[in-house]
Amino acid sequence: MNILILGSGGREHAFAKKLSESKKLSKLYVAPGNAGTAKIANNIDIDPLDFKAVKKATLEHKIEMVVVGPEAPLVAGVHDYFLADEELKNIPVIGPKKDGAELEGSKEFSKKFMFKHGVPTAKYESFTKNTVAEGQAFLETLKPPFVLKADGLAAGKGVLIIEDLEEAKAELADMLTNEKFGAASSKVVIEEYLDGIELSVFVLTDGKGYKILPSAKDYKRIGEGDTGLNTGGMGAISPVPFADEEFIKKVEERVVKPTVDGLQKDGIDYRGFIFIGLMNIDGDPFVIEYNVRMGDPETEVVLPRITSDLLDLFQGVATQTIEEKSYLVDARTATTVVVVSGGYPEAYEKGKEITGTENEQNSIVYHAGTVLKDNKVLTSGGRVLAVTSFGENIPDALKKSYNTISQISFDKMNYRKDIGFDLVD
Ligand code: AMP
Ligand code: GLY
Repeated sequence: MNILILGSGGREHAFAKKLSESKKLSKLYVAPGNAGTAKIANNIDIDPLDFKAVKKATLEHKIEMVVVGPEAPLVAGVHDYFLADEELKNIPVIGPKKDGAELEGSKEFSKKFMFKHGVPTAKYESFTKNTVAEGQAFLETLKPPFVLKADGLAAGKGVLIIEDLEEAKAELADMLTNEKFGAASSKVVIEEYLDGIELSVFVLTDGKGYKILPSAKDYKRIGEGDTGLNTGGMGAISPVPFADEEFIKKVEERVVKPTVDGLQKDGIDYRGFIFIGLMNIDGDPFVIEYNVRMGDPETEVVLPRITSDLLDLFQGVATQTIEEKSYLVDARTATTVVVVSGGYPEAYEKGKEITGTENEQNSIVYHAGTVLKDNKVLTSGGRVLAVTSFGENIPDALKKSYNTISQISFDKMNYRKDIGFDLVD
């Protein structure tokens, strides 16, 4: 089977690596990919949002399945585009259509969906520029901290958590009247603050059945001790020690089943990943958000732990036979530490030569923001590499990741030295 993966990050490198282990795979393509995927697949230099170019590549390379990494092509309707095209309509796409992608594309849509289908989540109200005063009055009814969310996609930056009421009121006005986050904040969701421990659970569904994949915890802040600006993710750990069998059972009964059933009831034929951001509050799960894709860097710890054929699971999604599939998980702990460009998540320089990425004796070095130029690996993004290792426990795995990183070098490289700090005694 020939497969095309859309995207260029560590997540897509992890997909490529796992799929390349499948006996069912013939040729693997990644668009646009990075220096890591270039070694194990064929990179195609196109933008995943340029659907005409995606079509051309699909036909030219006789692609038989498309796996979509990031949310943007899904929210823009790449799956719908395939279904509407005579030449593409029988090629399965792993990832929801536009209607399902709204679970991530609109915070208001996802909150309405959760309330409609009884999925536990924070109370909320949404406001527009015509209802700023009502929004400010609603804030007065809540206890701090205040949670303000831009309704649309804002590259992970559209959520503000503010202690002070007056500041929250001013930010709300700024988001709505001045469109602080562009069109994404023409509507703002205000919600109750959930006080607990965060984790993510991943589901692969064919619209009827599902498989719950290993849980993970990521570290979003740039600074040690979870301080400083939010990033796409600086590291991740799987499994999450406090997400034991009893907790995951609650997640399945209270969140996964009503979500998959709710999609069906609402006539949304959803085929792909659901990434459920959860808060564990005294042992009970509450949903913070849905994403319609895998997480990055969570994928870099979840997929290596899946020892079964991922392509077989994807075929289960495509043919709606996922319930008949089984899959195995490596019981060991996986950790990943993300190596970033100095300055990230603010301005940073690109084009720095990276050395030492081939030292993979004790780790897997997933590439994120890298390009291959004149046989050199250069930085091309904020998050550059994700270094994953296995261990009997978190410190054991982390030691290997940090040891591998010590052999990697590029100008101004940066990484957090305390991934997992909150999970070990
Ligand atoms: P989101 O983009 O919805 O995942 O929000 C980004 C981050 O903000 C989450 O990962 C949480 O850490 C935090 N967050 C979002 N909503 C809430 C909430 N209602 N209560 C507490 N923290 C939240
Ligand atoms: N690591 C968080 C995300 O992928 O959204």
